[in-house]
Amino acid sequence: MKRSECDIKNLDLADEGLRRIIWADNDMPVLEQIRDKFRREQPLEGMRLGACLHVTAETANLVRTLKAGGADVVICASNPLSTQDDVAASLVRDYDVRVYAIRQIDNDGYYRHLTATAEHKPHITMDDGCDLVSLIHEKYKENMADITGSMEETTTGVIRLRAMEKSGVLGLPVIAVNDAKTKNLFDNRYGTGQSTVDGIIRATDILIAGKTIVVAGYGWCGRGFASRCRGMGANVVVTEIDSVKALEAVMDGFRVMTMDAASEVGDLFCTLTGNKHVIRGEHFAKMKDGAMVANSGHFDVEIDIPVLKKMAKKINNGVREFVDQYTLDNDHRINLLADGRLINLAAAEGHPASVMDMSFATQALCAEYVAKHGSELGNKVYDPPIEIEDTVSRLKLASMHLEIDTLTEEQISYLSDWQEGT
Ligand code: ADE
Repeated sequence: MKRSECDIKNLDLADEGLRRIIWADNDMPVLEQIRDKFRREQPLEGMRLGACLHVTAETANLVRTLKAGGADVVICASNPLSTQDDVAASLVRDYDVRVYAIRQIDNDGYYRHLTATAEHKPHITMDDGCDLVSLIHEKYKENMADITGSMEETTTGVIRLRAMEKSGVLGLPVIAVNDAKTKNLFDNRYGTGQSTVDGIIRATDILIAGKTIVVAGYGWCGRGFASRCRGMGANVVVTEIDSVKALEAVMDGFRVMTMDAASEVGDLFCTLTGNKHVIRGEHFAKMKDGAMVANSGHFDVEIDIPVLKKMAKKINNGVREFVDQYTLDNDHRINLLADGRLINLAAAEGHPASVMDMSFATQALCAEYVAKHGSELGNKVYDPPIEIEDTVSRLKLASMHLEIDTLTEEQISYLSDWQEGT
């Protein structure tokens, strides 16, 4: 790989990046075992792999695993604010990976990097948000026949892919890694829960205890964030559009109300929905002076920022790093965190390694599965194979030195005999 082919901020940052990659690796024992297996078995030999993921220390360890399995990997960032430049530098210098990722790149640069990854003509793609697969569908249709399969890491990406499947345009098989229990029960819930609190605290230094925190969306991410906030003493309000999830939130002990009503009581608002314009003009107009608004969903569309800009009579950019202050006609100041981009990766370091261990172990094993079985799959969105979930959860338990029980012969026959229970 020629270093001149890469586009990163500064190769001199590589020492720090390497330290962080190794530190994260200490907490990724499942991925480490898969890497050893891949090194021996070379399941990805001869495969070109294009990844569009958050370029973090945890992702670097996934990339190392894919390379150990024989893949020729190119990676670009899946968000302009999430790249860890030191990690990108180390991937190039220490692991000989072609990287296109610079933190705070503009929109043109972001798409230039995606394009370079698509032009690698991957046999397998890995996306976090579906930008790479979308670009390939729009501009590189001719390369699609060579793609054995794709993996998608996040809820937002899976929503886009299912829409493509429904409208009959999906041109390749996709495994929705996000939908693995070994991913969303842990990464979405505990990973997003903790890293969102972390990002908000790093951005603002506020005390969570005693604040009224409005959580928009009660999927796994919202549940995790709500429970972490409650644990730190916040008074949590949940908003939802799904009646079952709303009921769940009520019975989990949270107050549930419309965003309209919540707007008047919240000190801090955080969106985790995967949808657009969840917080709109009519909501900003009702917020208290000093209210803080953040997003932890994949795209920066959950808060209607264009309307906030229009409503503001004064904008003070950078009252603090990651905080812009919008003063409205009623003199109330609304603090927007991290430009409405995913706060946990923009202001903090994303989810901790120990939870990414399971998500990325699932990614690596799905890549192996696609390399072996991709040609048997149709152009659909598939759940990850159950055997992969089983492998990942068992390896994780073993890495924690935990054992579980197994069914006795008597129990197996009881469960399979419909007459015995009566
Ligand atoms: N998504 C959320 N946290 C992440 C992390 N630490 N690395 C990669 N992707 C992530």
